[in-house]
Amino acid sequence: MFSVDVRSRLDSDVDQIDPDAWIDDQLPLLLEQNSLIASEGTQILGCRPLGIRVSKKSFTLIPLEREIKLEPGVSNASVIVDLDEISFSDLVQDIQTPQSLATSKVIDLPLKEHFRFLKWWPVIRAIIDGRPVHKPGEIDFLNQDGGSLDLNRSFTQEDSDEEISWFLSQTGYLHLKGWWSRELMAEISNDMDGAIEKYERGDGRSWWAKTEDGKDRCVRLQYFQSQSESVKRLLREGQHERIAAIPGDGHSIAWNGSNDENAIEALVKPIGVVEGISDLPWHKDCSLGRHSYDCSSITVGISVTGADSRSGQLAVVAGSHRANLQPNFIHPYLDLPIVNLPTETGDVTVHLSCTLHMSHPPTETERRVMYSSFVLPHKGKKIGADRISKVREEAYLKVSQAPSHNQD
Ligand SMILES: [Fe+2]
Repeated sequence: MFSVDVRSRLDSDVDQIDPDAWIDDQLPLLLEQNSLIASEGTQILGCRPLGIRVSKKSFTLIPLEREIKLEPGVSNASVIVDLDEISFSDLVQDIQTPQSLATSKVIDLPLKEHFRFLKWWPVIRAIIDGRPVHKPGEIDFLNQDGGSLDLNRSFTQEDSDEEISWFLSQTGYLHLKGWWSRELMAEISNDMDGAIEKYERGDGRSWWAKTEDGKDRCVRLQYFQSQSESVKRLLREGQHERIAAIPGDGHSIAWNGSNDENAIEALVKPIGVVEGISDLPWHKDCSLGRHSYDCSSITVGISVTGADSRSGQLAVVAGSHRANLQPNFIHPYLDLPIVNLPTETGDVTVHLSCTLHMSHPPTETERRVMYSSFVLPHKGKKIGADRISKVREEAYLKVSQAPSHNQD
């Protein structure tokens, strides 16, 4: 089997960073080690001088041709970011990201500066973690025999786990055809109809969106296993658990069988959303933080109804899980292929937490899908997970998606 475990940090190593000591002692050392790869990143991404102010300290990172210059103060910065000590400590240790701090309004920059800060994120990781920013041409897609891989390949239950595992490790996604019966999906769709009226805006178990016809729609039914015995059974079926075992990393659903955990979410994707979020734009699931502690987990999308270019299909960037790149948008330089994943009822899509993906807003037909995740083995408290979860759960109240349009 082919691992997708790229974790490089342990929660037991996390500390509250003292900004004074880190900026004076650690940062110059890190720049000595990683300045060259970081400066390559700034050139690829077009980064401008970044100023950071935290407690009484301030500094600017200035991209030069073959190095990053560290300067005290922020007088030469093109973007200045003010951080509290916890947010600074989170950023340094890859617990939160510029995107999570912006979504929660901990930092509130004008749009142009917001993007200037986002651009720096892969470079900041290069400086601190020594992981170079993705360069065009670095990633190719190969079969196990060395030939080129068909990125549109799908798999059935008859295919071997080894073959499926190889494809997942190369591309970061899977399309599993006919994984579940149409009858089961119809049963679950009925359960969704029955469950929707039991959810209400602000209940902490659902996301809502307003549509152009003035309706307030429940678009995400969390804890959905509590509403459907069929779904409870599905989560324990061999063919669901088979997906968790594909990379051989010990992924599991991490669910105790109760109704009190959010084991699976059922999504309804209406047409014409004008407020709130139903269809997420390009992102990695680790874009809100904890990449180096948790990646890659596996997200499974079960097509309760099919999806195509007019009913809100999923799209992925092949190989993006192997690259240090923008986790929130596609930078124009990115050379990796975008692959649409149209599905039929009962098909399953799989993507890694580190794979860039988005769901197209439906333009003609509503779509229904369920999402559940498998996580890597982990002991103890996940530091900062509560902060990230709060950001995620409040996002639909603070951010609205772009209006939908036909893709072709
Ligand atoms: Fe996602």
